Amino acid sequence: MKKTILTGIKPTGQVHLGNYMGAIKPALGLAQVQDYQAAYFVADYHALTKTHDAEEFRQLSYGIAATWLALGLDPEKAIFYRQSDVPEIFELNWVLSCFSPKGLMNRAHAYKSMVDSNQASGKDADLGVNMGLFNYPILMAADILMFKTDIVPVGKDQIQHVEIARDIAEHFNNNYGETFILPEYQIQEDTAVLPGLDGRKMSKSYHNTIPLFAESKNLQKLINKIKTDSLPPEAPKNPDESILFTLYKEFASPDEIAQMKLQYLSGIGWGEAKKELFNVMNNFLEEPREKYNELMSSPERIDAILKEGAEKARAVSSPFLKEIKNKVGFYA
Ligand code: TRP
Repeated sequence: MKKTILTGIKPTGQVHLGNYMGAIKPALGLAQVQDYQAAYFVADYHALTKTHDAEEFRQLSYGIAATWLALGLDPEKAIFYRQSDVPEIFELNWVLSCFSPKGLMNRAHAYKSMVDSNQASGKDADLGVNMGLFNYPILMAADILMFKTDIVPVGKDQIQHVEIARDIAEHFNNNYGETFILPEYQIQEDTAVLPGLDGRKMSKSYHNTIPLFAESKNLQKLINKIKTDSLPPEAPKNPDESILFTLYKEFASPDEIAQMKLQYLSGIGWGEAKKELFNVMNNFLEEPREKYNELMSSPERIDAILKEGAEKARAVSSPFLKEIKNKVGFYA
């Protein structure tokens, strides 16, 4: 039997190149593995803990869905859905919450770091904390356990959440007998950590990102903002110390990379290096960007794809939820 590999992205911001290299690209690779059944979803209910503007919420949700599709996720092969279209997840969320020790939630890092920073600045500990944020790990456990997930590919910051899902599953299994599969997390150790405009890791919180589908003019502008030193154009440059070259390597062919390395060593102006970087990036992004824009201008097409995905998801979640409710004692 195929192993289920499941992951969700929550639509809380514009997808950037760092997200692509670090999370989406490896997940797309895993979806191709013969022994895996991929279940990838838009974690919209999770985003609701943060985004309270309806129009923004809608755009960001479609944006995540269109991103996956534009980059080549095949909805025929993967189960690709919107979390909120699968109500069984939400029902399971309640059942699981009755097996989730509150103390465990107190220690969950998203909540805890907010409390810590409130306390450090002398404010009320729970200032700005809604119950959605507090319950976040339980909903995530429901996402994972609902589909008998074997493997959850995630970033390091999500390890704790997968461990919480295992904990909750164990509490339930201990009480009612083997029901849930205990999921394993999988960290993508070998994926590139992309530098942002200032050379630090590209991250929304550093405001140094390049949006994945920036229009080419804007892409060029952003690349022009990348920090460089003041060496004159003819001076030899060390490619291994250049943000421009690190980025170039991610998008160019091996031949281009070898060529560019020589140009650095024999002296290339930063302006020229930026132009070359723009060319390879733009080349790589052109096609998915076009697909993305097409999809975003006809959201009904995205809806249709997600709806089909939700049907596939519910073919699994609906009977499993019945079985779970049966064990808990809802039916005769
Ligand atoms: N919490 C994850 C993140 O912020 C998103 C997410 C929600 C998720 N449910 C999930 C990831 C289930 C993996 C599995 O990145």
